[in-house]
Amino acid sequence: MSISLIILAAGQGTRMNSDLPKVLHKVAGAPLLVHAMTAGAALAPERVVIVAGHGAEEVRTAALAHDETVQVVLQEEQLGTAHAVAQALPALEGAGGDAIVLYGDTPFIRPETLESMIAARQRHAVVVLGFTARDPGRYGRLVTSGETLERIVEFKDATDEERSITLCNSGVLCADSALLAELVAAVGNDNAAGEYYLTDIVGLARARGLSAGVVICDEAETMGVNTRAQLAEAEAAFQARARAEALENGVTLTAPETVFFALDTVVGRDASIGPNVIFGPGVTVESGAEIKAFCHLEGCHISRGASVGPFARLRPGAELAEDVHVGNFVEIKNSILDEGVKVGHLTYLGDAQVGKETNIGAGTITCNYDGVFKHRTEIGAHAFIGSDTMLVAPVKIGAGAMTASGSVITADVPDDALALGRSQQVVKAGFAKKFFDRLKAAKAAKGKN
Ligand code: UD1
Ligand code: CA
Repeated sequence: MSISLIILAAGQGTRMNSDLPKVLHKVAGAPLLVHAMTAGAALAPERVVIVAGHGAEEVRTAALAHDETVQVVLQEEQLGTAHAVAQALPALEGAGGDAIVLYGDTPFIRPETLESMIAARQRHAVVVLGFTARDPGRYGRLVTSGETLERIVEFKDATDEERSITLCNSGVLCADSALLAELVAAVGNDNAAGEYYLTDIVGLARARGLSAGVVICDEAETMGVNTRAQLAEAEAAFQARARAEALENGVTLTAPETVFFALDTVVGRDASIGPNVIFGPGVTVESGAEIKAFCHLEGCHISRGASVGPFARLRPGAELAEDVHVGNFVEIKNSILDEGVKVGHLTYLGDAQVGKETNIGAGTITCNYDGVFKHRTEIGAHAFIGSDTMLVAPVKIGAGAMTASGSVITADVPDDALALGRSQQVVKAGFAKKFFDRLKAAKAAKGKN
C-alpha cells in the first residue's frame, strides 16, 4: 500500500526568538525539518507534502535542497493543525493509500514507530501516536476505552478529570488519505483556541462508527523543539544516541562525550575516533580508519587504513583513499588524495588531485584562488613536494617529480624533473659575528650614559 507524508511546518516558533523559521534551526548539522523528512523517507513515501507558512520561502528552499521531489504548499494563515492538513490534501489527490502527519519541529520519531502505526492501521481507521508523559503539561490528552481511542481533548478544552490523563498526543497520526480528507473537512473551530484542531478527527471518526487506536512510543521520540533551550536539549539527546550507536557498531570512541556527529555521519566498524572530533554533514569514515583528537570534518570521505589528525580540518570534497595520512594543522578542501599519500604537517590543499604515494612536505600551500576564480593543482604519483612549496594554480606537477623546499611553483613540472623556484643562497663568511659584536658594543656604550 502506498504511503504519503504530510509534514506540518507553518508555525512561527515565537519562543525561538529568531529570524529563522523554527524548523530550519539545526540539530546535528541538519534542520529540524530534515530530521522529520529523513524519518519519513524510511517508509519510501509516494508523495511528501510540506506545509509551510512563516518563512515559507526559506522553508521551501531548505526542503527542496534536501529532496527535490517533495511538494511545499503554503498555509497563509495558521488557523490550526486541521487547517494545515487541509492545505496539503490537494497535493495528495489521486495518491490513494495512507497519509501520515508529522510535525517539522519534532525530529526524533523513529521509522520503526511509523511502521508500527502503519501496521496498526489493519485494526483501526485512524491511528494516533501517543506517549505517557512524565509531565503532561499542555499536551492534548488521549481519551481511551480499552483498546479504542475515543477522542483527543486539547488541554485548553479539557476538564480537570481529563487533564489528569497522562497518555498524551504526540501529534503524529495515520489514516487513509481519502478518509483523512473527509474528516478534516468536517472539523470546526468552536473551541477554546478558536482553531481547527486536527485532533478532532478522532471523535469524528468514532461518531461515524469507525475505529481509532493508539500506538505508544517512548516520550524521547516525541520531543518537540519550541525554545533554544529545547534545541540544546535535542542536540544533547541526539548526540547521546549517536555515540551509543557508534560504540554498539564497533567504533572506538576514547572520549565519547566529546565527539559530535551529524545526522548523516557514517562510521565503519573498527574505526577509531579520538577526543574532541566534530563531524559536520556528509562524512563517511570507512572501517579501520583513525581520526585523532581535535579534527573537524565535513563533506569528506576517509577510506580504510587512513589516519587523520590530530588537529586536521577536512572540508567538502576532501576524498582520502586507502592508507592516506593527514597530519596536524592540515586543511584539505575539494581534493582527491590517492592511496598512500602523506600530508604530514601545516598544509593547505584546495582543488587538488594528488597521485598515489606522493609526499607533501610541511607547509605546502596550493594557491588556488586568484581573488576571482579557483584553479586546480594536479600532482602525479610518487612525487615529492618539498617543504614550504607554494603551488600557484593552475599548475601540474608530473609523476615522480620533485620541488625544492621553499619554491614558488608557477609553471608545470614534467615527470621526474626537479623544479627549483627560489632565489640563490648567498653566504657571507664572518658576517653574523661582526654584526652582533657591533650591536652589543652600541648597547654597552648607551648603558654608560
Ligand atoms: C498539538 C496537538 C496536541 C499535541 C501537541 C504535541 C492539535 C490541535 N494539538 O498541539 O494534541 O499534544 O501538538 O506537540 O493538533 N502548525 C501548522 N499550522 C497551523 C498550526 C500548527 O503548520 O495552523 C504546525 C506547527 O508549526 C507545529 C505543529 O503544527 O509544527 C503543531 O502545532 P502547535 O501549535 O505546536 O500545536 P500544539 O498546540 O502544541
Ligand atoms: Ca507544539
